[in-house]
Amino acid sequence: MTRKILVTSALPYANGAIHLGHLVEYIQTDIWVRFQKMRGHVCWYVCADDTHGTPVMLRAEKEGVTPEQLIERVHDEHARDFAGFGVNFDNYHSTHSPETRAFCELFYQRLKAEKLIEARCIEQFYDPVKAMFLPDRFIKGECPKCGAADQYGDNCEACGAAYAPTELKNPYSAVSGAKPELRHSEHYFFRLSDSRCEAFLRQYASRASGRLQPEAANKMQEWLGEAGEHRLTDWDISRDAPYFGFEIPGAPGKFFYVWLDAPIGYMGSFKNLCAKKGLDFDAYFRPDSDAELYHFIGKDILYFHALFWPAELAHAGFRTPTGIFAHGFLTVDGAKMSKSRGTFITAESYLRQGLNPEWLRYYFAGKLTNTLEDLDLNLEDFVARVNADLIGKYVNIASRAAGFLCKRFGGKLAAADASLPAIRAIVEAAPRVAQLYETREFAKAMREIMALADQSNQYVDSVKPWELAKQANKESELHLACTHCLNLFYLLTVFLKPVLPKAARQAEDFLRVAPLTWEDAGRLLPEGHVIHAYQHLMTRIDPKQVAALVEANKEGMSSAASAARAPEKPEKPEKIISIDDFMRVDLRVARVVEASAVEGAEKLVRLLLDIGEEKPRQVFAGIKSAYDPAALQGRLTIMAANLAPRKMRFGASEGMVLAASGGKDSGIYLLSPDSGAMPGMRVK
Ligand code: 2FM
Ligand code: ZN
Repeated sequence: MTRKILVTSALPYANGAIHLGHLVEYIQTDIWVRFQKMRGHVCWYVCADDTHGTPVMLRAEKEGVTPEQLIERVHDEHARDFAGFGVNFDNYHSTHSPETRAFCELFYQRLKAEKLIEARCIEQFYDPVKAMFLPDRFIKGECPKCGAADQYGDNCEACGAAYAPTELKNPYSAVSGAKPELRHSEHYFFRLSDSRCEAFLRQYASRASGRLQPEAANKMQEWLGEAGEHRLTDWDISRDAPYFGFEIPGAPGKFFYVWLDAPIGYMGSFKNLCAKKGLDFDAYFRPDSDAELYHFIGKDILYFHALFWPAELAHAGFRTPTGIFAHGFLTVDGAKMSKSRGTFITAESYLRQGLNPEWLRYYFAGKLTNTLEDLDLNLEDFVARVNADLIGKYVNIASRAAGFLCKRFGGKLAAADASLPAIRAIVEAAPRVAQLYETREFAKAMREIMALADQSNQYVDSVKPWELAKQANKESELHLACTHCLNLFYLLTVFLKPVLPKAARQAEDFLRVAPLTWEDAGRLLPEGHVIHAYQHLMTRIDPKQVAALVEANKEGMSSAASAARAPEKPEKPEKIISIDDFMRVDLRVARVVEASAVEGAEKLVRLLLDIGEEKPRQVFAGIKSAYDPAALQGRLTIMAANLAPRKMRFGASEGMVLAASGGKDSGIYLLSPDSGAMPGMRVK
């Protein structure tokens, strides 16, 4: 029976680079999807960037670009990184899309009609300088339990205590440093505490339903509590302006919270794919759909996916997920990824250092289970295992026989013996390996495949093609031995194809066969089939490459994709000057009144700067490579106001704006004061 399957991975935030921690999930999902496709099922894999929320808004502001410009750039970076690792989405969309907006509005309208949305007034910290309500992550202060300084508004990293931001001592805004004030605001809540939601979730997430992994179902029981305990609380789905997101219809200045639109973004991406491919969206999302829907996620976001999301779907007239598959976190060498140790490794840096992405895919596959347990990338083991398994066991089988076959037999295969024990073992293992892929027991699948590869190598060692080749009267034995080797390699390639799509494609070329499907694990290459000359499929990892990767990711040497592009080598501060020397520079807050390109000067932008004088000053700044002049209009920056005017081809430059730069290719970053500063204020 052909199944219809829709699969998602969690949507990565649009304000950061993809790193190896993310890749665990995308590689896990991609392997599963590729396996389903090889089985002949209809399987769609969709994802998108998670674009909304305060962090994206503030990050864009910091970079001096609009949120739309930021998310567009990051979308391209993410798509490039995923493609680099062979993560083959059928659609990679954005939550900032018309489809997602339309679904958000539809959910809101339907849940409201069900009386599951309620408006309520709440008290929240407000930053009076920045004129915005502060999310918990943007409030800092002293831990109410242990007194540690600079702790976030939701929990203490020193003692682990969880609390409300209002409990922090001496709170301050992490955005402006201002003392936050408590203010009232009307918010919209999804009434998860409603008895209909609770009743639905008890049944939906029960252990018996099999929709959740046992550990996840236990967690759900904890969240739900015993009947009558009413543990579920309502969920705040709105945020106040300024906010980058979708405005709530009929509620000016109120926006849907990013976590409301994120899972809806799965549907938005699929809807977009349906339009491109002419698929029937409703066949996948109506309540009685016979299609399967699976979400691969990290264990930290189980709450959103197993509580809110199914409850929303069920009460908005849609189908609910068939399964939610959570995985654990990645550690590197047994510890949390760390920028100072160089183990916070970005996808881009891995690719840029020239490491083969399939090495990592294989290593992760070898560690992935279907539980929520964390998974460790041990860098030494990574080198050893990839070299031993992929090169020493798998590739070796082909490389030891293909040369003889091509040179001595024109690449033509003899008739293989299907009853050869090594061949039979693989053919018989096919249903078991399939079952392991299906249940996401990839580590067990890789062990099983490598045990079969061991058996194949034992066969090669027993027939010794290299010795047969030296003997005059052993032509047909050599031919048969090489034919068997090639068949063994062919069958193992079928099993490894979900994990190693690129190597499998090269193997298909070299073996001159059509794209392999799972059914090919039951057939041999026919007698007389002619293969191409062997080309090496994969190189060994040199431990030096891994050392260089870690070095490249050490803080301060970070990759171009990391958030604040650090200089390649931090420059040494210049020689010491006196405070009087410093005070001789008249630095002023300036507002960009006008910014325009300069004809005939590719690097320059002409700025008119208000520094509280009668007439704005004209300054030519070499910042065109980093800023679109239109985006500069209205923003504040800092200027040196007492420099002697400089005559230029285009007119006089009456000062200089200040910008950070780390040298070649590291970008240019205009300085800006915190909000509240006024044009003309002295900077000292
Ligand atoms: O935790 C995260 O990284 C979120 N951006 C995941 C969103 S998943 C889904 F709900 F969209
Ligand atoms: Zn504490």
